[in-house]
Amino acid sequence: MKAAAAILVLLALCAPAALAQAPAAAAAPVTLDFEYFRTKVEPILLRKRPEHARCYACHSQGTPLVIERMSPGATTWNDEQSHKNFDIIRRVVVPGNPMRSRLLLMPLAHEAGGIEFHPGGKHFLSQSDPEFRELVEWVNGAKAPSAGAAR
Ligand code: HEC
Repeated sequence: MKAAAAILVLLALCAPAALAQAPAAAAAPVTLDFEYFRTKVEPILLRKRPEHARCYACHSQGTPLVIERMSPGATTWNDEQSHKNFDIIRRVVVPGNPMRSRLLLMPLAHEAGGIEFHPGGKHFLSQSDPEFRELVEWVNGAKAPSAGAAR
């Protein structure tokens, strides 16, 4: 009995300390990496997934979120267009907080924690989807592996 009581006291002492650390960690500034965006996030916006139109197909025209249209004949964006896309997409991202970022919540299945309805459908059925993980990493501040090496 005594031991159990001691453990309870210990737990009560430790819990507030653990809680107090959380806001400090969340407050660390996260910057979104452009190279990671260009090499990993943009391809996700272009990729054709079964039973879904590409994000680009809808989001390069009349939606609230309009990314750059590619130049005629091009299969990807040029540098200037990618920089514009970066600025457009960061408006639907909360750096360091993937699960508050509409970029992730809209295409994520509702059962997996996503928003209830997205006219573009649910491209990711689970948070462990590899493409979804890449979006999470970017929002959490991941840097492109080649950044620096390529410069
Ligand atoms: C079939 C068309 C279509 C496709 C494909 C599509 N979307 Fe959408 N999306 C929409 C429409 C329409 C809206 C506007 C919904 C609204 O206003 O409620 C929207 C809204 C959004 C928003 C919220 C924009 C804002 O400003 O709040 C995000 C973020 C988004 N989509 C991301 C994506 C991503 C990422 C993909 C690909 C994985 C994708 N969408 C694929 C049609 C589409």
